[in-house]
Amino acid sequence: MGAGVAGLATALAAAPRPVLLVGGSPPGSGGCTALAQGGIAAAMAFDDSAAAHARDTMTAGANHNDYEAVQYLVGNAGLAVRWLQAQGIDFDRDADGLQLGREGGHGCPRIVHAGGDASGHALLTALAQAAQQARHITWRAPAWLDAIQLRDGRISGVALADTATRMPQELACAELVLATGGCGALFAATTNPATADGNGLALALACGARLRDSEFVQFHPTALDVEQDGALPLITEALRGAGARLVDDEGRAVMDTLHPMGDLAPRDHVARRVWEYRQAGGRVWLDATSLRGDWEQRFPTVVALCGQHGIDPRQQRIPVTPAAHFHMGGIAVDLDGYTSVPGLYAVGEVACNGVHGANRLASNSLLEGVVFGRRLGHRLADIRLHAPSSGQHHWVDRGRTADAQALGILQQLAWSTLGPVRHGSRMIEAERYLATDDRLHETWQGKLIARFLLAALQRQKSLGAHFRADDWK
Ligand code: SIN
Repeated sequence: MGAGVAGLATALAAAPRPVLLVGGSPPGSGGCTALAQGGIAAAMAFDDSAAAHARDTMTAGANHNDYEAVQYLVGNAGLAVRWLQAQGIDFDRDADGLQLGREGGHGCPRIVHAGGDASGHALLTALAQAAQQARHITWRAPAWLDAIQLRDGRISGVALADTATRMPQELACAELVLATGGCGALFAATTNPATADGNGLALALACGARLRDSEFVQFHPTALDVEQDGALPLITEALRGAGARLVDDEGRAVMDTLHPMGDLAPRDHVARRVWEYRQAGGRVWLDATSLRGDWEQRFPTVVALCGQHGIDPRQQRIPVTPAAHFHMGGIAVDLDGYTSVPGLYAVGEVACNGVHGANRLASNSLLEGVVFGRRLGHRLADIRLHAPSSGQHHWVDRGRTADAQALGILQQLAWSTLGPVRHGSRMIEAERYLATDDRLHETWQGKLIARFLLAALQRQKSLGAHFRADDWK
């Protein structure tokens, strides 16, 4: 379930095992992968190494990372790039070979892009095409996973609904992979599309799957600060890697005194800085006007997104705001993608194998989708088929869905209490408020936010992206 980078990599690697690939939108479109502007982090330069990539990943993750998962990720990054090239992805080049960009938290340039800041779109198009040509894969899209059937505690079926008809159809299935993406859309300010609302997480939770690290949500420091419903346009960190600076209303650099890496500090530091300026009534701007070179080739998405709001980033500073961007937590899985429910697997942003720790390093997420998706796919190709049991079955669904008004309240609540800066007392108040309003806490979105609040309250010390203003050290 899910046809972004992680779902596609899993499905392709599962050959020759037959796969029904269910996507929420037509093949090659929609979801977070399509919007991703960052590329793939891989130590490809002669003076770089997997060890240095691992170090940066662990530092960004506040050393909360699973060490083995990090080693596997960085150790397979070069292979992932070559595999993607074999799928037809044409990574950007310069005179020295693959062009390597730099983003926050990386000690050196190590990000490969395809089509500049349209990398996610390029990946999705090529992988979706490969999956459409693969004989072991049958597509079903756009469709939605309504419910899961369990028999003797293991997965035995799914109820799918085509998005257009909403008519559910029951299918037997021995192995179900959730690759449904993140939950940024549960927050009032987000870079994620509305479909990244934690729906996979909610279903796994209803099945009794264990979650892990739910409190760790990453806020991207530079979403475009404009009034608009839904996802805020992302202004890629690669601009800062190329020399753009974050400045205040008076044009003074805001990161210089805060972190030795300045504008390229790990994302959590930068997001909090921007948040604090805005809480104090100021604004923060990304000044990219000194950048020279080919904007149209390297940053076509940023030029187009800013243009839609009357901003020319080559001539004008870009107003920015933090926004929920990536969930480091998720369904607890091992490195093979096994959850605590037999027959249920998870991969990509919906899953948590600990690779990102408390804060993901830039451009490690498409990489995670490819590396761990392929690992899970290979595993599924080899797995011994489970003989169906004759026990009683039962169906599990998410429960009630919030209507538009309740969802708006929940999103504001999540943003104000679980945003870049958290306060224990405000989170307790939010918990109480949720518990007293049936319209909110009986919905699956309300239940997820209650889970996040609980996890954030239980972690009393700041760590990575989970920053508690009431942690007096
Ligand atoms: C960005 O391009 O700034 C986002 C990349 C990422 O989330 O890794």
